[in-house]
Amino acid sequence: MIRTAALGLMIGLASSPGLTAEQDPQTGFIIAPGWETVRNNCIACHSSKLVTQNSGSREHWLSLIRWMQEKQGLWPFDAKTEETILTYLSSAYGPKEGARRPPLRAAQLPENPYRQPPAQ
Ligand code: HEC
Repeated sequence: MIRTAALGLMIGLASSPGLTAEQDPQTGFIIAPGWETVRNNCIACHSSKLVTQNSGSREHWLSLIRWMQEKQGLWPFDAKTEETILTYLSSAYGPKEGARRPPLRAAQLPENPYRQPPAQ
């Protein structure tokens, strides 16, 4: 009962405008400049979910595109289209901030009795 109410609240929040980015109901793509270009080029072979579940920098998206072009039969894009796609993906599905903390530096780590002394 409480769970159902909480779920209802979450759905209510998610669908109220302003709190979350507007999404295309068919594909789930966030509506932002360039989303139609991505829809037109990125859902012929797999679900849009594969795209929306991924995230990362421009370089990450570019390397995925190059991999699909080399290995999966993705067609080449002209420079403008590629630019539109990369800008859209890296801003709507950019690197997740705060998902992981950066690694500690060696000096911040606790004393490690097993650490080898630096070689002479
Ligand atoms: C010509 C077919 C084709 C098109 C068009 C295509 N892809 Fe893919 N893509 C693939 C295949 C095949 C896979 C691997 C699917 C699998 O692992 O099930 C894949 C996998 C992916 C993955 C998952 C990669 C991973 O790390 O698992 C992402 C993200 C992705 N594609 C994004 C895109 C984007 C963005 C576009 C548009 C620019 C696009 N795809 C267009 C064929 C395509």
